[in-house]
Amino acid sequence: MTISVGLTKWQSEYVTSKAKYNLLIAGRRAGKTHCEQARMIHDALTKPGSQTMYLTPDGSLCHEVFRNIITDSAIKKRIAKTEKQPARQIFWRNGSRTYMRMFDRPDKALGFGFDHVIFDEIQKLDSMGGRDDFMRVIRPLIMDRKGCLTISGQWRGEACWWYKWYKEQEFNTDLRLWNVPSWEGIKFWPLKQNDPEILDAKQMMTPQLFDQDVACIPTGNANAAFDYYDVKDCFGGKSLEKGENGRRYVIGADLGKVVDPSAWVVMDAKDKQVVHVSLRKLGEKHIVGARKLQELSQKFNNARVIIDATGGATGGKRNKDVFLKFYRQYVKNLGKKIITQQSKEDMISKLNLAFQNQTLFIPDDQEALIAQLSSFEAKPGRWGGFKYMGPNGHDDDLVIALAMVYDAVDRGRATDADTSEFEESFTRT
Ligand SMILES: Nc1ncnc2c1ncn2[C@@H]1O[C@H](COP(=O)(O)OP(=O)(O)O)[C@@H](O)[C@H]1O
Ligand SMILES: [Mg+2]
Repeated sequence: MTISVGLTKWQSEYVTSKAKYNLLIAGRRAGKTHCEQARMIHDALTKPGSQTMYLTPDGSLCHEVFRNIITDSAIKKRIAKTEKQPARQIFWRNGSRTYMRMFDRPDKALGFGFDHVIFDEIQKLDSMGGRDDFMRVIRPLIMDRKGCLTISGQWRGEACWWYKWYKEQEFNTDLRLWNVPSWEGIKFWPLKQNDPEILDAKQMMTPQLFDQDVACIPTGNANAAFDYYDVKDCFGGKSLEKGENGRRYVIGADLGKVVDPSAWVVMDAKDKQVVHVSLRKLGEKHIVGARKLQELSQKFNNARVIIDATGGATGGKRNKDVFLKFYRQYVKNLGKKIITQQSKEDMISKLNLAFQNQTLFIPDDQEALIAQLSSFEAKPGRWGGFKYMGPNGHDDDLVIALAMVYDAVDRGRATDADTSEFEESFTRT
């Protein structure tokens, strides 16, 4: 097989791309790995002495890429020698070197000094903490030689870090994105979208899986806890800066600070309409947050504020009850929601039903909330039930705040006469 010829248009654009950051986000079998191989050969041969590293969490893919390159009859004679241990390496006659390594842990030592690092199958990078870990471990690999970086795979909801990273860099001329559905791959020509294989996949896969793996659109997320099409059906209403006369509002506040930011969602108690969303700055002091929260409550007709507390003996890692006492001093109309594994599951299920039955509404300009909803995932827990979280365990604060506020509104906790959980387990200080 000769992989250095016969590339499609987007593939050859990538192979000759001079961008520092390259995002190759394409559906399965579209031809990502194929053109990455071509790029590695191209770079090795046209830039003598260059060093390239191919990384992927998939061990067998790593070996396949290595084998594909070293068995390519057209370029075999340009290779001086190969090694398999400790990492797969190709030594080219012109002094270039190409490495292939499986990447599974952020603490792995990888060395320095690459002209190009390619990370394939980014969506399989489950064990890493996300963008910060990626930037801490992978990004420095190209620093010494001022090299370039390729990230490839599929999106996993709009809040997946590589999508957010791309959105932030949209105007960076040093970044290029190729976002290609599977049917642009050579295997599906000439019928493309109407290729029987594509049509068949569409029939068999859930819409979320098809959108993620084949159509390769940002909202696609195979592990999604909420069906994005249901969420979309609930778009409606307007965002407000302050409450309208005579209406009652409730605020759900998911408190964070160090690792995750605080997130607030305001809902109209009667229409179950989200009217305001605020994702606080990471590291905002609680004294600032508490005062702003009281201000927000005032703006929304002294809305009741529900904040999260860990349930005493249920093993919450952070003791949020200390925060609760603290917030009590500033926020007049405060209630708490004890969050346990079970209560979280109940709240999320309730929210899911609300999306299906269209009993809540979200203004379509609330992009951060909508992005988090598209990326919020459900995974079967080890002890039964489900574990819910944003991608890599982060970026779910707005979802939790929404779940809290919807739950509170649904239970009629909009008034201060409410005597549920809050009064039971909280003693005024
Ligand atoms: N330009 C091309 N010419 C010939 N075969 C190609 C080309 N692009 C992709 N292929 C083949 O299509 C299949 C899917 O490509 P691959 O790169 O593995 O897709 P992806 O990594 O996007 O899932 C592979 O068998 C690959 O060899
Ligand atoms: Mg591939």
